[in-house]
Amino acid sequence: MHLIVLLYFITSVNTFGQQPEDACYQCHLEIDQDQDADDRLFKNYLQDIHVQRGFGCADCHGGDPEAFDDEDAAMWDNDSYLGELSPLDEVKMCAKCHSNPTFMSKFSVSVSVDQESQYWSSKHGQELKQGNEKVATCSDCHGVHGILATDNPNSAVYDFNVPKTCSKCHSSKNYMAGLLDKTDQYDDYVNSVHGVALLDKQDVAAPACNDCHGNHGAAPPEIGSIKEICGSCHAQNRDLFQKSHLNKIFKDRGIPQCESCHGNHRILKPSDNYLKWDGGVCVKCHPAGGKPKLLAAELFNILDSLNTQLESANLLVEQAEIKGMEISELYFSLEEAHNALIHSRTAVHSFNKDFLLEAARPGLTASADALAGAQASLNEFDFRRKGLFGASLIFSFLALLLYLKIKQVESSKRKDTKHEK
Ligand code: HEC
Ligand code: HEC
Ligand code: HEC
Ligand code: HEC
Ligand code: HEC
Ligand code: HEC
Ligand code: HEC
Ligand code: HEC
Ligand code: HEC
Repeated sequence: MHLIVLLYFITSVNTFGQQPEDACYQCHLEIDQDQDADDRLFKNYLQDIHVQRGFGCADCHGGDPEAFDDEDAAMWDNDSYLGELSPLDEVKMCAKCHSNPTFMSKFSVSVSVDQESQYWSSKHGQELKQGNEKVATCSDCHGVHGILATDNPNSAVYDFNVPKTCSKCHSSKNYMAGLLDKTDQYDDYVNSVHGVALLDKQDVAAPACNDCHGNHGAAPPEIGSIKEICGSCHAQNRDLFQKSHLNKIFKDRGIPQCESCHGNHRILKPSDNYLKWDGGVCVKCHPAGGKPKLLAAELFNILDSLNTQLESANLLVEQAEIKGMEISELYFSLEEAHNALIHSRTAVHSFNKDFLLEAARPGLTASADALAGAQASLNEFDFRRKGLFGASLIFSFLALLLYLKIKQVESSKRKDTKHEK
């Protein structure tokens, strides 16, 4: 049976990218002409990766693509014709090729064939098996009659386009009524550091929905490891946190690692204020204060003293530069202190005062050096200015003396000539 299916596919493959010699296409293109431009089903059909690879309508829908001008022979009377596709039929239809490694390897050596099995593991797939037809199926994410290669920038699943593709359903209160109460994932995401980085700054290192939820897994938190997804990109924060005493507590109680302080969709740029008690991140879980409050204050104070000292050093170095002093050396110290501050903000995730102090120490030393260096430059400037004033006083005095001397010489010369007369 498999062989017949395969043979059928291979013989029905036609020449690449041409206007297809296809009874189905011909008749349906005519039907399309009577529609408004927006409603035409096949307006993007020739760009479809399947058409590009030589497939036709019947490769997905079945039927006889040679039965020109004969609806009945092409569709209704043909046993292979699948008819209207339910969402479940559709997944099976896409999967008959995409789950077949022998078949797919004829087209590409690198293509994966796990989309269907992944899909059944996702919430979408699980719900579909239960008869919920509102979930995403293959064509909801990839489109239909215009499916593009995933690396094509116009593909619905290209990095920049994924959030919009998911939001078609997930942002609609109507569509999600009775299924999911929350429909703010997209709005939260576009306002997050990640959404701004990906969509505004075109930084493809930042995650789109599928980078956290999986392409086909779209797994709910209970399945898979979405609770630990952040560490796959933020490895330093993860490693520090996993060594901290909070890690065991969080693990034992099933509290997610990063989300509990940062959120999942509306992740904002953190600041040292996260460690302040009022308006900070600790108070939500520790309203009583106690040891957590003490630790938060200790961590805050270390960062705050580094930050304050670095700011003062920056100001003083700037003043010295404006006065034209040679301060290029001091910039190295400032940079070192700045790097230590960045490093320390990551080191917060040890949730250990001594560890954070160790991370901050090079910065405290370097900013103290810069501060002292800038102060010395400014002192030197003052000294030179005072010196210059002293020197010019002496010069003026000497000039006055010289002038008086010349006057004296001249007047005594005049007296002498008078005498001679
Ligand atoms: C001579 C014209 C003609 C040909 C040839 C033709 N179709 Fe159709 N097809 C139609 C018409 C008309 C309808 C609309 C039927 C309706 O609205 O009830 C239709 C409906 C469909 C549908 C919608 C689902 C359904 O069953 O109602 C699919 C899918 C489809 N055709 C696929 C194909 C495929 C695949 C081929 C080639 C193997 C093909 N058609 C050949 C005229 C044609
Ligand atoms: C890669 C597989 C694939 C190919 C190739 C393909 N289709 Fe489809 N088609 C689908 C899927 C999946 C659906 C159902 C998606 C939906 O609208 O829910 C569909 C839906 C349809 C429908 C019903 C659309 C509607 O909105 O009522 C028609 C008619 C149709 N196809 C005809 C064709 C014709 C004619 C061709 C060739 C010109 C073709 N299809 C090629 C996958 C394919
Ligand atoms: C919830 C949305 C979604 C659904 C449902 C979905 N896909 Fe995908 N698919 C994606 C995303 C996102 C990618 C990855 C794009 C990228 O690589 O950047 C992808 C990639 C692919 C690829 C490229 C190879 C690969 O695995 O990366 C194929 C082939 C594919 N999907 C087929 C399918 C098939 C077949 C189904 C149905 C069984 C399906 N997809 C269902 C979103 C979806
Ligand atoms: C007749 C077999 C067949 C059917 C049915 C089929 N595909 Fe494909 N599909 C292929 C082949 C072959 C490729 C090209 C793989 C390649 O060259 O990388 C492909 C490519 C793709 C790609 C691009 C993958 C990439 O690497 O970028 C996507 C997405 C895709 N198909 C989705 C679907 C969806 C969704 C359906 C069902 C609506 C479907 N396919 C039905 C055979 C099929
Ligand atoms: C066709 C509409 C549709 C599209 C498109 C869609 N989804 Fe869904 N999704 C749903 C529905 C409906 C559910 C609710 C299932 C249920 O009843 O719990 C769901 C459930 C989910 C869940 C599980 C939520 C939970 O905890 O119960 C996640 C995660 C998810 N979708 C992510 C995505 C991502 C990521 C994308 C885009 C790559 C996407 N979805 C695209 C319709 C869609
Ligand atoms: C940085 C990773 C990340 C990104 C990006 C992301 N999510 Fe999530 N998402 C999560 C986590 C973690 C959860 C689990 C929440 C929990 O613990 O229950 C979640 C939960 C969900 C849920 C379940 C309902 C809810 O809100 O708790 C849906 C639906 C969902 N995400 C859809 C999306 C969509 C759509 C996008 C893109 C617009 C997206 N997610 C982007 C990490 C992410
Ligand atoms: C696919 C990789 C990836 C994943 C997964 C990811 N992030 Fe990010 N994250 C980034 C990138 C890249 C940036 C930098 C964005 C920018 O340029 O501002 C970033 C920025 C951040 C920032 C802001 C850092 C700063 O100093 O401004 C925080 C906080 C953050 N992510 C937390 C998380 C959390 C929490 C999760 C999990 C729910 C997560 N990230 C998942 C890649 C990722
Ligand atoms: C108990 C609360 C808490 C947990 C849990 C937590 N963070 Fe943080 N995170 C903070 C605080 C507080 C800051 C602010 C540090 C600052 O700027 O002073 C921060 C800052 C950050 C930053 C920006 C600074 C940097 O390192 O570049 C990133 C990124 C980040 N966290 C990622 C994560 C990730 C990933 C996880 C999970 C492994 C995580 N966080 C877990 C409290 C937490
Ligand atoms: C998501 C909730 C949550 C957040 C947010 C959180 N913690 Fe905790 N933390 C806990 C839980 C649960 C315990 C276990 C002890 C308890 O029940 O109070 C704990 C215990 C601690 C302990 C040990 C207390 C003791 O008596 O030995 C310290 C210290 C601590 N947290 C500090 C912090 C700091 C600092 C922050 C903010 C940066 C923070 N926590 C944020 C949930 C949280």
